[in-house]
Amino acid sequence: CSFVKIYKKKKTFLIINQSFKTDYLIFILFFLYSHQLEIRAQVANAFLAKFQLTSEEMSALHAARDGPITEDFFKALGRVKHIHNDVKVLLRTNQQTAGLEIMEQMALLQETSYEQLYRWAQNECRALTQESCDISPVLTQAMESLQDRPVLYKYTLDEFGTARRCAVVRGFIDALTRGGPGGTPRPIEIHSHDPMRYVGDMLAWLHQATASEKEHLEALLKQVSMQGVEENIQEVVGHITEGVCRPLKVRIEQVIVAEPGAVLLYKLSNLLKFYHHTISGIVGTSLAALLTTIEEMHLLSKKMFFNSLSLHASKLMDKIELPPPDLGPTCSLNQTLSLLREVLASHDSSVVPLDARQADFAQVLSCILDPLLQLCTVSASNLGIADMATYMVNSLYMMKTTLALFEFTDKRLEMLEFQIEAHLDTLINDQASYVLTRAGLSYIYNCVQQHKPEQNPLANVPSMDSASLKAAMVQFDRYLSAPDSLMMPQLNFLLSATLKEQIIKQSTELVCRAYEELYAAVMNPSSQYKEPETILQRSPQQVRTLLS
Ligand SMILES: *[C@@H]1O[C@H](CO)[C@@H](O)[C@H](O)[C@H]1NC(C)=O
Repeated sequence: CSFVKIYKKKKTFLIINQSFKTDYLIFILFFLYSHQLEIRAQVANAFLAKFQLTSEEMSALHAARDGPITEDFFKALGRVKHIHNDVKVLLRTNQQTAGLEIMEQMALLQETSYEQLYRWAQNECRALTQESCDISPVLTQAMESLQDRPVLYKYTLDEFGTARRCAVVRGFIDALTRGGPGGTPRPIEIHSHDPMRYVGDMLAWLHQATASEKEHLEALLKQVSMQGVEENIQEVVGHITEGVCRPLKVRIEQVIVAEPGAVLLYKLSNLLKFYHHTISGIVGTSLAALLTTIEEMHLLSKKMFFNSLSLHASKLMDKIELPPPDLGPTCSLNQTLSLLREVLASHDSSVVPLDARQADFAQVLSCILDPLLQLCTVSASNLGIADMATYMVNSLYMMKTTLALFEFTDKRLEMLEFQIEAHLDTLINDQASYVLTRAGLSYIYNCVQQHKPEQNPLANVPSMDSASLKAAMVQFDRYLSAPDSLMMPQLNFLLSATLKEQIIKQSTELVCRAYEELYAAVMNPSSQYKEPETILQRSPQQVRTLLS
């Protein structure tokens, strides 16, 4: 209770308390039981005074007509509001007429006061077109007050949005063309030759501006308690940042259509994606025009990126490079893989969410790898079998080592592995027959394999007599003493030492098995060799040991 008034009259005391109910009760009691007219009138007047503004309050309201809004204005307006509400109680007494009059008076006062407050706030907002924007506490209080008049509140907010929109557009153009005060930082357009820097600086500026504008709005609506304030803020930030969309779009489009190359296009698309993500964190998920523009530019740069990859691939197919004499990867394969590496590396460092990155990755890989595989197959088509297998293993191996450095490539790696294995099988078989042929065992081994027990005994098959076998074994022994001397020349072209090892190991195993079969056949009594142990002096185990 802020005040207690004591009316003293003819030894009668009446205490009027701030609490209205108590006031009212005491008033009624006193009114009913007081018989003296004079007292009655005076009490009534005293009470009615509670429903009038003081002259200070009246002048505080009037001052707003041409002066600034002050703290006193809000206090007086608060009183008007209270009186308008409290006076209703009089309507149930015999003071009805007075009550109605007061009510009407207060309603009128409220209307003109809100109107004045609105005009004032509108002017204040209109003036907020500078880049720096100080929200005065009085303006914040005005917005709190205006929420009682939703239409005026909305108009004021619109006015604020329009002014800030102008300020942001002007600020953006200044930052682009003039730079900061005194030229620092330098104008953003100075870097227009460097796409990443240029677009990055523009987006960073807009990110900062969006965050500041949201802060201004939060300061402006700090005391507003009505529902939907958050939405109001998002909507107005969306409106404020709408103005920069055109200048931004025009500039980014210029960068993109200048064809800065696949890697830059990809980096740009990731940069745009990143800022879309961060700015939507400020603006909320609303359909703000700035977000739509950034998304559009993201999609455009991504589309141009994939176009550029496809163009690269189709150029490769237009002019197919033949395998070099060393059966190594072609120049175009190397170039394409280094492009892929650059793209994947820029992808890794981007701040794009995982699932989006994974989807991009799959698309990039199929855009580059599929044509590459086709290219290799076509360019190898005129080679002999061992040359082709060597060339393919080398090319596939290059692809594999490139991909192995990056995430989300497991499936592709597995596929490449599988293709490499298939070509390795060819090389393993070829190397084994290369050895058998040069060790003089090729014909003999064929006869053993094709010989059927019910036919002639093996010893009687032409060129399978013990003298021929002994002669072959001399050659085979030479191989056993220097196994490395019998190697297909293609194996020396293999880029991967590990794969070469694998081929030698597995082909040697095939040679051992062939010797095992030959040995078993010759030792078999039904083959009818005399003293077979003098023909094949080494056991399969001894051969295996010598070759291991
Ligand atoms: C491609 O790269 C591989 C490995 O770096 C290299 O051995 C080969 O010579 C390159 N090919 C061309 C044509 O430059």
